[in-house]
Amino acid sequence: MLCTARTASHRMGAIFLTAQCGVHVAPRTAMTVQPSPARSTVLVVDDEQGVRDSVRAIFDGTCDVLQASNGPEALAILRDHDVDVVMLDLRMPGETGIDVLPRVKAADPAGVVVVATAVRDVRMAVEAMRRGAYDYMTKPFDVEEIRLVVGRALEKRALEREVLSLRSALAEPPPTASNGFAGMVGRHPAMVRIYQLIAQVAETNVTVLITGESGTGKELVARAIHQQSPRRSAPFVAVNVAAIPDTLIESELFGHERGAFTGAHARKLGRFELAHGGTVFLDEMGSLRLDLQAKLLRVLQEREIERLGGTRPVPVDVRVLAATNVDLRRAVRERMFREDLFYRLNVVPLHVPPLRERRDDISKLVRHFVCKIARESHRDVRDVSAGALDALTRYDWPGNVRELENIVHRAVVLAGGPVIQLQDVPLDVAMPEAARVQEAGAAPLREACDRFERQYVLRALEGVHWNVSRAARLLGVHRNTILAKLASWGIRRPGAEQEDTSHVVV
Ligand SMILES: Nc1ncnc2c1ncn2[C@@H]1O[C@H](COP(=O)(O)OP(=O)(O)OP(=O)(O)O)[C@@H](O)[C@H]1O
Ligand SMILES: [Mg+2]
Repeated sequence: MLCTARTASHRMGAIFLTAQCGVHVAPRTAMTVQPSPARSTVLVVDDEQGVRDSVRAIFDGTCDVLQASNGPEALAILRDHDVDVVMLDLRMPGETGIDVLPRVKAADPAGVVVVATAVRDVRMAVEAMRRGAYDYMTKPFDVEEIRLVVGRALEKRALEREVLSLRSALAEPPPTASNGFAGMVGRHPAMVRIYQLIAQVAETNVTVLITGESGTGKELVARAIHQQSPRRSAPFVAVNVAAIPDTLIESELFGHERGAFTGAHARKLGRFELAHGGTVFLDEMGSLRLDLQAKLLRVLQEREIERLGGTRPVPVDVRVLAATNVDLRRAVRERMFREDLFYRLNVVPLHVPPLRERRDDISKLVRHFVCKIARESHRDVRDVSAGALDALTRYDWPGNVRELENIVHRAVVLAGGPVIQLQDVPLDVAMPEAARVQEAGAAPLREACDRFERQYVLRALEGVHWNVSRAARLLGVHRNTILAKLASWGIRRPGAEQEDTSHVVV
């Protein structure tokens, strides 16, 4: 929903302009902003309290206005809130707006940023727009200008959302693929740091070694680097080194000439040549044979390859990104991996943490996958119940994001209605303690009982559409017992309070 000039204009009587900081507001007694998912949210980042209050007054009643007095505060807010427009002051003591801007964009690549600057600093505003800001305003502020510029920015955001939902209705590629980070979802600080690093290295040609457990999203990171790099219109060629048989790997990577070996009936270009001008992504680097490690090292140093059976080197212009889920340093110590190649690859290390270390992102990922899979498999599934989400969030995800995606896939296909229920989550995910009871490190009985109780109550509630009295009768307890348990688990009844059901998450 947009803030319109008409709805904001009735506040004008209370606002007047001053020469120093622009807009000032007559003191108001109660200026509370009620968050509401249907309304747009504006974040004003300015070190002057007067400016922040003025902006809040201008949009009072039409938008939710959040405030930050410096960059770190703004980034903390962006981590926890869905913000539509950020109004960023370029001149702040300490870190300036222009320095904070890339991190604001990284925190929410789809967010719209409007910068505020003094008239004499318009060149800085232009620089900010080059770095991703959408528009700028000059100080001292003019109320009409604020309304106009922010209104336009909100309109842009609303249009983008509309386009995304239309696109998803047309079953086009996932909407978040347009976020510039290959559709990566998640706002955990570790992920935000990864977005920042991606943005920093994308411009350059440096080799990046992406590490992380299986299924954490290493390939997605590589794709995001390529997408943001000047090589984006040239090919991104991924090679899973472990998946190619030993006998074929050299010809796959570097190609061969006709007659190079029995069966080589024609010249074949290798992946490096196919990626000319673009990026080669070498996945599972730890499995590369030692003799091929030496050849790869030469390619990285000389920037030329030699086809099998070839007589002359062929120059190639490729950027190399590599990934591994094994500890390459250890492989170096065990002489399974060349030290010189390790240092060549590890110019910029980028570690993707396991999903269990960024649990805050699980609900966003679940909603993202529900949306994507429902669209792809033509199922009318739109949401996830609180109980199911609770179980998914508590699980440890040894297979990381890939495992989560598979479980959501299964749940979407099996769901009996538009909302995935706890019963659609496999028992070994909802109750992993039961599966692990014979292993070392099994959960203590008390913990397992608590977990079982929680699942049992939630399943009962979901079975009776959250009619607490009926669930209480089924379970033979007082309804207050159930309400107290829900409160202690931090689980809200559906409809008890409106929840953010936005599916377009980054
Ligand atoms: N942050 C994320 N947002 C959205 N989808 C993700 C994210 N991370 C991973 N995925 C999805 O999870 C799956 C696994 O990701 P990816 O293949 O990039 O992992 P990987 O670390 O390369 O795995 P492996 O080590 O097994 O090669 C893919 O379908 C990918 O799209
Ligand atoms: Mg991979």
